[in-house]
Amino acid sequence: MRSLAIEKYCKPQDYEILDLPVPEIKSADELLIKVHAGSINPVDVKVATGAMKTFWPVPMPLKLGHDLSGTVIAVGSDVPGHFKPGTEVYSRSPEYCSGTVSEYALSTASTTALKPSSLSHIQAAAIPLASLTALQALDAADKNIDGGLKGKKVLIPGGLSGTGSIAIQLAKNVFGASKVITTLSTAKAAKAESLLGEGVVDQIIDYTKNDMAAVIPRGSVDFMFDTMGQALASLHLIKKGGMIVSVSSLPFGSDLKDLAPNMPAIIRWTLNSIGAVSKYRARRYGVDYSCLFMRPSAADLTRLSGWIEEGKLKPVVGRVTGLENLKEIREGCEEVLSGKGGTGKFVIKIGAISHGGGA
Ligand SMILES: NC(=O)c1ccc[n+]([C@@H]2O[C@H](COP(=O)([O-])OP(=O)(O)OC[C@H]3O[C@@H](n4cnc5c(N)ncnc54)[C@H](OP(=O)(O)O)[C@@H]3O)[C@@H](O)[C@H]2O)c1
Repeated sequence: MRSLAIEKYCKPQDYEILDLPVPEIKSADELLIKVHAGSINPVDVKVATGAMKTFWPVPMPLKLGHDLSGTVIAVGSDVPGHFKPGTEVYSRSPEYCSGTVSEYALSTASTTALKPSSLSHIQAAAIPLASLTALQALDAADKNIDGGLKGKKVLIPGGLSGTGSIAIQLAKNVFGASKVITTLSTAKAAKAESLLGEGVVDQIIDYTKNDMAAVIPRGSVDFMFDTMGQALASLHLIKKGGMIVSVSSLPFGSDLKDLAPNMPAIIRWTLNSIGAVSKYRARRYGVDYSCLFMRPSAADLTRLSGWIEEGKLKPVVGRVTGLENLKEIREGCEEVLSGKGGTGKFVIKIGAISHGGGA
């Protein structure tokens, strides 16, 4: 089968389409899926550079991608009956099943859900990782902030990033936040309403012209979802009793126990120490600071599907190309790696899509 893959750590300019074996079901909870579309997340391209190889080594050749939308081909003996050959699903596959930008990929029942019928495969492939991240961050805030997020003011920088575009919609349309503030570059501000929905964003700060830390009144924000590594520079904006959940700062070493069991103790200790200092600095403002590492979850994907079907949530798809367009794939992955310029998610279409919607 054709697969977007690398044979050694490299940047997107050296990505290849390799001919690799179709994966085989080896565990009772696995599904083999014919992939119609896969999407690229920052983690895919960062891991591929080798920048994290000391604590997160990956086997080569490495098939890229963790998000997919496709059709079930075969199931293991313990897979629940609602997944059968022919069922249309979407998934954030577990780490060991990496390789969703391939004609076929494995995932597990505990990380896969029925594809929302209102979405095409291209749209559905844009959902899993970024949306699970956003949902789990908002869940943490809703649970920990007094009275939950209903009626609260939230700050979600990067309003048309993969994670930010979903978090904004969930905050307003699902968790009932009263005010959503975001940051965007100049050209993107004009697109926000059409891509996220009317009245979903209350305040847009053009971060290329203004520093949000100077524009937003001190102590006025209940919750910040830190998508752009700005948590510690924003502590003064958060109310006492408020919270910051970061997905873009260095994680705690203890959060990486499952992902990187062989992480050298010194690196784990250093990460824990940096995290402890950040927590201490936040506490001095009366703010709860934590880092989040997204957990793949079929249950959370199913919750997301429900809100999609209710019209409360829609994916923001930016670039789309096909598996046959290696040049465009490399360009799109380079954009994701740079963290600059992209809108929403970069999706790669695989093969002809026969049912379940087109683009
Ligand atoms: N811990 C986890 O489990 C987890 C999960 C998902 C993502 N992440 C991390 O979270 C971060 C965000 O991920 P993502 O998928 O949302 O990223 P993304 O979609 O690749 O974000 C890039 C977008 O951010 C905009 N941007 C860049 N700098 C900005 C700034 N200073 N203020 C506002 N917007 C800015 C860019 O547009 P312009 O250049 O036009 O501004 C572009 O649209 C990444 O570091 C990723 O690795 C972590």
